[in-house]
Parts: sequence; C-alpha cells; structure tokens
Amino acid sequence: MYVANEARYDTMKYKRCGKSGILLPRISLGLWQNFGGSNVFENSRRMVLGAFDLGITHFDLANNYGPPAGSAEETFGQILEKDLRPYRDELIISSKAGYYMWPGPYGEWGSKKNLLASLDQSLQRMKLDYVDIFYHHRPDPDTPIEETMDALATAVRQGKALYVGISNYKAQDAKTAIETLKKMGVHCLIHQPSYSMFNRWVEDGLLDVLEETGVGAIAFSPLAQGLLTTKYFSGIPEDSRAGGPSVFLKPESVTPEKVEKAKRLNEIAKLRGQSLPQLALAWILRQEQMTSVIIGASRLEQIEENVRALDHLEFTPEELAQIDSILNG
Ligand SMILES: NC(=O)c1ccc[n+]([C@@H]2O[C@H](COP(=O)([O-])OP(=O)(O)OC[C@H]3O[C@@H](n4cnc5c(N)ncnc54)[C@H](OP(=O)(O)O)[C@@H]3O)[C@@H](O)[C@H]2O)c1
Repeated sequence: MYVANEARYDTMKYKRCGKSGILLPRISLGLWQNFGGSNVFENSRRMVLGAFDLGITHFDLANNYGPPAGSAEETFGQILEKDLRPYRDELIISSKAGYYMWPGPYGEWGSKKNLLASLDQSLQRMKLDYVDIFYHHRPDPDTPIEETMDALATAVRQGKALYVGISNYKAQDAKTAIETLKKMGVHCLIHQPSYSMFNRWVEDGLLDVLEETGVGAIAFSPLAQGLLTTKYFSGIPEDSRAGGPSVFLKPESVTPEKVEKAKRLNEIAKLRGQSLPQLALAWILRQEQMTSVIIGASRLEQIEENVRALDHLEFTPEELAQIDSILNG
C-alpha cells in the first residue's frame, strides 16, 4: 500500500493563486504526454506518486490527453483508486474541454453542450465527484463568450468543479471572459498560457490583465517541450519527445538556432549552480504574476531535478540582461 512521504510539505514552495484562497505548488505536474494508455502504467504511477512525495499537490489534465484521447484521465483515475484516494483532499486536480474530443457538432469548441458533457466524461474517467479546476481549453471565435462562461459557472453551481479557469486566451479575450464570469458571480481562478524562454507572448499584455483582475497564472510547456534541456545538444535521442512517436515536437523543431541558444543559456545556468531546465523554470517563476509552472516528464528523475529549481529563484539584473541578449540575439 502506498504511504505518502511524511516530509512532503517540508521543502516545496506554495504561492497564492491570484486573489483566491488557493495555494498552488510553484511546480505542478501535467499529464499531457507519457501518461496515456500507450505508455507503461507503472512509469506513470511512479511519476505521479513521486511528484506527490515531493509536495506537488497539483496535477493538470484535459479530456483529450493520451494517446488515445481520454486515457491520461483513466490512468490518473487508476492511480487515485490504487494509491491516492486517501489523499484526495490534499490534491488540486484540473481538467479541460475545448479541443476535439468526439465526432459531430458537439465534440469540441465552446458550447455549453460540449463543456458540460465533456466534464461529466472526465469525472467518470477519473472516478471523481468533482474536479478542483475546470478550464475552457481554447477560445472559441464562434460561440458567444456568455454561453461558454455560463457553462463554467454552471459547473461550479453543480458542484462538479470548485474553481474555473481559461487557457490559451489572448489578453483582450481573457479580460472579456474574466469580466463575463464575474457578472455571473464566479471568479476566474486562473489562466493557463504557454510561456517559456522561447515563447514570451504573455509578457505583451496578458500578465497585466491577470494582475489587474486578480487571476492567477500557470505556465504550460515551460521547458519548450524539452528544448530548454541539454538533451538535444548533440542530436535527437531516440528516447526523447522529438525522437519518439509524439507528433507535438517534430524533429524539425529542434533547430540549430534553438540548440545554440540553449547551449549559451546553459553556461549561465552553470554559473548559477543550476541545470538548464532549473534555470528555465526559475526564470518563469521570477514573474510576480506566475503562480506555478506545469512541467511534463517522461521519468521521475526529471521531476526530481526540476523541483530543485526552487532552491535558487532570485536573479540579478545582470543575469536577466544576459538572458535577454541571448534570447533576442
Ligand atoms: N493548456 C494547453 O493548451 C496545454 C498545452 C500543452 C501542455 N499543457 C500542460 O502543460 C504540461 C507540460 O507540457 P510539456 O510536457 O510540453 O512541458 P515541458 O516541461 O516544457 O516539457 C516536458 C518534457 O521535457 C523533457 N524534460 C522535462 N524535464 C527534463 C529534464 N530535467 N531533463 C531532460 N528533459 C526533461 C521531457 O521530455 P522527454 O520525453 O524528451 O524526456 C518532458 O516530457 C502538460 O502536461 C499539460 O498539462 C497545456
């Protein structure tokens, strides 16, 4: 029987999510890749339990994570059933709807029909009564924002989600969504954008909107899917995301320019006594609005390494300037 590490809350750092009662671990774990039905269950289980033992209380899922779509939620449901059920009240579990999930006109985007049906499916797959956070996964240009936000508000009123969030919304759309939810009496807890050293769009307005509205931020793909590690320094290893069956990081995305920048960033990391992924995570968490980062992993050792980023989160102005000059070069 799994018994959680008694010291799990001793070293992890937690931060308040915007203006809310919820504290999130500065490092959260996402189950997008490597937790599906086509992956080895015992490896997925080892990562989830190992993360929880390190004080990672937040696990991020979505209806379509796998492959096949839905199977990451099933994997998580099995781990809950086997090991984590006694710890349910120590966990923040999120799911999302909005990307393609089932055929026909109701299987994706932002209708109330799609969101509420998808949430029911997610709860069944994870064997949960409620999720802690339910997100709209991507903005829908064709559905009135009032309808999509009404779906999120309804999930809260039904008790199927404690909090709600939005993901991949640009600054102005995020503002509209947050204000629309507010009129319905529901606070938007969190926004989940992509953000990394190689992808800085959130700095251009979104973080300001979140600050003004008291909404937390959690960055996804903070290591640019592995590009901000040393693994691609001399080619593409077979056991990497770019070298494996995943369609989300193609070998052609591992460009010489990116690898060169990563090598130069790695020199700064070494001077700080960090590894490159540790530097990349600390750099995101320097932003006051950033509640947490959601890392992905293919093995527990990566999570253990990444969590140690929290040992050195401060940057000197000189370090930040050097990093900017590499990234802008
Ligand atoms: N809302 C959205 O639209 C959206 C979209 C994408 C992701 N997400 C969320 O964000 C989470 C993280 O996304 P991501 O997996 O792209 O994040 P990421 O942290 O940028 O990349 C994770 C990958 O980097 C490699 N890696 C991690 N730590 C490493 C280390 N210390 N040393 C060497 N390699 C390391 C591993 O790849 P290898 O397989 O190469 O080992 C790992 O699977 C997802 O699980 C999901 O929850 C949300």
